[in-house]
Amino acid sequence: MNATGRIIEFALAVREAFEEGTLIRLRLAGYEGAEPDLKSVDMRRVVVKGAEKFSAVRHYRTRDITKNHALDEAMDTLITELGGTFRVATLNAVGFDLVLERHGEKVRLRRTEVPGRDAPPIAHDRAKNRPLVDTHKPWLQALGIVAKNGSVRHDTQDKFRQINRMVEIFAPLIQELQAENPRIVDMGAGKGYLDFALYDYLSSLGRKVDIVGVELRDRLVEDGNATARASGFSGLSFVAGTILDHDAAGADAVIALHACDTATDDAIYRGIEAGAELIAVAPCCHKQVRRQMEAGQADDRLGFLLRHGTFMEKQAEMVTDGLRALLLEASGYRTKVFEFVSDAHTPKNNLIVAQKGRAGPRQAAIDRIAAAKAMFGIRKHHLEGLLGL
Ligand SMILES: C[S@@+](CC[C@H](N)C(=O)[O-])C[C@H]1O[C@@H](n2cnc3c(N)ncnc32)[C@H](O)[C@@H]1O
Repeated sequence: MNATGRIIEFALAVREAFEEGTLIRLRLAGYEGAEPDLKSVDMRRVVVKGAEKFSAVRHYRTRDITKNHALDEAMDTLITELGGTFRVATLNAVGFDLVLERHGEKVRLRRTEVPGRDAPPIAHDRAKNRPLVDTHKPWLQALGIVAKNGSVRHDTQDKFRQINRMVEIFAPLIQELQAENPRIVDMGAGKGYLDFALYDYLSSLGRKVDIVGVELRDRLVEDGNATARASGFSGLSFVAGTILDHDAAGADAVIALHACDTATDDAIYRGIEAGAELIAVAPCCHKQVRRQMEAGQADDRLGFLLRHGTFMEKQAEMVTDGLRALLLEASGYRTKVFEFVSDAHTPKNNLIVAQKGRAGPRQAAIDRIAAAKAMFGIRKHHLEGLLGL
């Protein structure tokens, strides 16, 4: 059989599994097309307003985009994509896996029998665009997000949306890590919303991860560990202690969401020291740098802005985080800063994402740090001190 014949055979197996309700997941990987940052596509069967559709989640480097397609449209797209842009497709169905691999002009199909798999539950339209489809989870109940019957509580709709958004952002970043079973350290984990959600979602994709949440407050640590046990999340745990005291050695990713003021710097420092492949932080308050800016040593030309409290606050935030990005670059990381949720949810909505090994020249970053500090009258950024720069 030639390459086109094998692609059509694969597409027919997908169609049959879809129509019989036995399709668990279809994944396209090995992207070779022109869309920047596209990594993979996951497809599954959903019901939208009573009609069966293919829900396709396109995973980009920093975000996911979900679209629903009618079966015929999805099949046409699948055949086109497999002919040119994706090299690997994996169909997980009840009873078997079918893998298609294209090497140049050659296409290979490999079928493996997998006994004992149940038919997948069908996701309905209300949940169609969310990674956390099943809300009947002990952890969602323990964290007060859903009621006993699994419905998202009226007053936590916003929180649930935010958690889903975080999973959409973090899951592709974690999927990109090189380690087969990555170790993630969440600094200042609080109740561990992100940790539970990420662990649950990645497990549902068959991705093994170990997540450790570091938290100052003992009570939250005890509650988190009890909920992880009750959920059967053996790779998720919480430890009591300070971020700075936590040696993150062996971590593939270090994250910190809204750890207060310089605790964000402590987390970045521990991540750099551990040589983590990914460091991602959403900073919170920015008092340390602001105090130095307020001491009045900034360039006179900035006076027209910095004399207003509201502009000072915004500037302090940008300068603190801009310097964090440069300090990460000087430490061998490539960085991106972007808004991860709308500022209607929280004004502290910037995420710094740093990936190891793709940085520019170290000296250029160090020179820019010195210039920025001189301009804003900053003696020492807390992270700079920790790094001994
Ligand atoms: C604003 S909460 C954010 C919690 C969680 N990351 C989230 O986004 O839902 C900050 C958490 O960090 C913890 N924290 C602050 N400074 C810390 C430190 N130096 N070491 C450990 N935990 C810290 C606090 O106790 C609190 O639970």
